Amino acid sequence: MIQIPLIHTDHFHDQDRYTCNVNGRSFLVLKSEDRYYIIENKCGHFGVPLTNARVERSSIQCLAHGAKFCLASGRVLNNAVESCVVLAVFEHVIIDNVIYICLHC
Ligand code: FES
Repeated sequence: MIQIPLIHTDHFHDQDRYTCNVNGRSFLVLKSEDRYYIIENKCGHFGVPLTNARVERSSIQCLAHGAKFCLASGRVLNNAVESCVVLAVFEHVIIDNVIYICLHC
């Protein structure tokens, strides 16, 4: 597993989000209720970027067709659309106030 630094926690306030690209993949780092989450910036339905999606507590809802996902597990939380796959979520560590994404090689 490799750890890649993404952003310093000082840049974050609650409900903030930050997009970044690592090895050609787009990720979204979010903070909600004092907890950080890292997800792939790609809806499990049609792959629309979730940059502007609605975040409520520990869930995120795609604005395109309404699919709602758990930020911790990626699980689909509603029946807004058919054939929706789980959202890719990623572990992270915080070292000296820097958030690192943990990726399997
Ligand atoms: S693309 Fe996200 S719900 Fe359809």
